[in-house]
Amino acid sequence: PAEMFAPERINSAGVEFGDRASLERLTDSVAAARGPAEAAPVIDGVTQAGTPRDVVSPSDARTVVGTVAEASPEIAAAAIQAARKGAVAWGRVPAEQRAAALERAADAMEASTGRLIHLLQAEAGKTLDDAVAELREAVDFCRYYAAQGRKLFGAPQELPGPTGESNRLSLRSRGVFVAISPWNFPLAIFVGQVAAALMAGNAVVAKPAEQTPLVAAEAVRLMHRAGIAPGALHIVPGDGAVGAALVAHRDVAGVVFTGSTEVARHINRALAAKDGPIVPLIAETGGINAMLVDATALPEQVADDVVTSAFRSAGQRCSALRLLLVQEDVADKVIGMVAGAAQELRLGDPRDPATHVGPVIDAEARARLDRHGAALRRAATTHYAGEVPGEGHFVAPQIYEIAGPEALTEEVFGPILHVARYKAADLDRVLDRIEASGYGLTLGVHSRIDATVERVVARLSTGNVYVNRNMIGAVVGVQPFGGHGLSGTGPKAGGPHYLTRFATEQTVTINT
Ligand code: SER
Repeated sequence: PAEMFAPERINSAGVEFGDRASLERLTDSVAAARGPAEAAPVIDGVTQAGTPRDVVSPSDARTVVGTVAEASPEIAAAAIQAARKGAVAWGRVPAEQRAAALERAADAMEASTGRLIHLLQAEAGKTLDDAVAELREAVDFCRYYAAQGRKLFGAPQELPGPTGESNRLSLRSRGVFVAISPWNFPLAIFVGQVAAALMAGNAVVAKPAEQTPLVAAEAVRLMHRAGIAPGALHIVPGDGAVGAALVAHRDVAGVVFTGSTEVARHINRALAAKDGPIVPLIAETGGINAMLVDATALPEQVADDVVTSAFRSAGQRCSALRLLLVQEDVADKVIGMVAGAAQELRLGDPRDPATHVGPVIDAEARARLDRHGAALRRAATTHYAGEVPGEGHFVAPQIYEIAGPEALTEEVFGPILHVARYKAADLDRVLDRIEASGYGLTLGVHSRIDATVERVVARLSTGNVYVNRNMIGAVVGVQPFGGHGLSGTGPKAGGPHYLTRFATEQTVTINT
């Protein structure tokens, strides 16, 4: 029904960056909220000991943002045990109260704007506009799932009783959900996973990405204070071994994961190897996301949208553009304009509101991207390679022309754009190549011919298709987000069907 998509009711307001007074208010509140941060395992609301480690800033490895006490596999197991008890109690809390608690959590996050943005910038290297957008998304997830949850988990649905019996269908919680979230949206995806699982009446053991535990810990504090029962939400910061211990535990009823395709496969195998119930996995992974540009596209707009899609957030979005496919007739012009627009990007300290591109997440990411760039400078045509500033893990935007779509075989998670030309007569072959990659997350199309757009959309089953605009920044309730195949198991975060994946269904037939 249309009312499920009433975005004006649920999407939170942004900040007008052009208005100096509101920008200053924002940057002042972020500056006032600096200061050391802490994360630790929290089970039943009680902070646990762990192995301490400094969390350093990706913009400058000399800056310690805070400390994390990392969980052991034993602590992870204890969290699952506690969640098992918590799930029974939380599952009995009426859906209305669970929804109200999520809405209070959303309010609390908005009230903590300064602190959350400080942590997003310091710990994850987010630019100011990315950090603002991410906080809004986290808030939107809470409010959207609360609104959806009231409908889905409120009263049972009455079904026809053709034989005189009464029939009703209800959604029920599953039990303990493990939520494993990525560093690239350390607040929005962390909160989105947790909020969905909680709204469905599950208890959650959340493991934030190793690189970004601090902002996740802050979100959990705010959620507990807002009335999410301590028994329903536990956090265990740590590395892959902690995630593996959680997934392998026999009392887990579901796993929600966002991250690499490779780790999703590991989780899937680990779940399949266990005795006992068949445990569902909700996975959102990556993509070799393509954009097609035909000869009718508007080059200025293409340049703008390509640069936004490929380089904003330093290319560290699963939705980001990796492969630009330009029709041969306009390729020189379009590529030239894209390179020109890339040159305008300001790379540097993410706290400076004028910065467009911040650092990549860590030294390992930087080394991997540097190797990929160096290989392409030897094997491909370089159209642009920017300069790198400062002390942090910076990777400059780069544009390389490769032989064809088949030359790009892996997701490259950073600000490196691959370009290839195609002949109009070869469009079907190009579409076949995109489909054959096995990924299906996002797709961009720039064309002013409706029939071309329809042909592309009909041929490809990509999860999120963006026509004549950029291809990042899906809005909760407006562009439900997620892909299939190598890109995930399909459920759309921020969409009307997401919560059902966290629940079981029960049909009750009464012979009256
Ligand atoms: N939801 C994010 C986006 O749409 C995923 O990376 O950009």
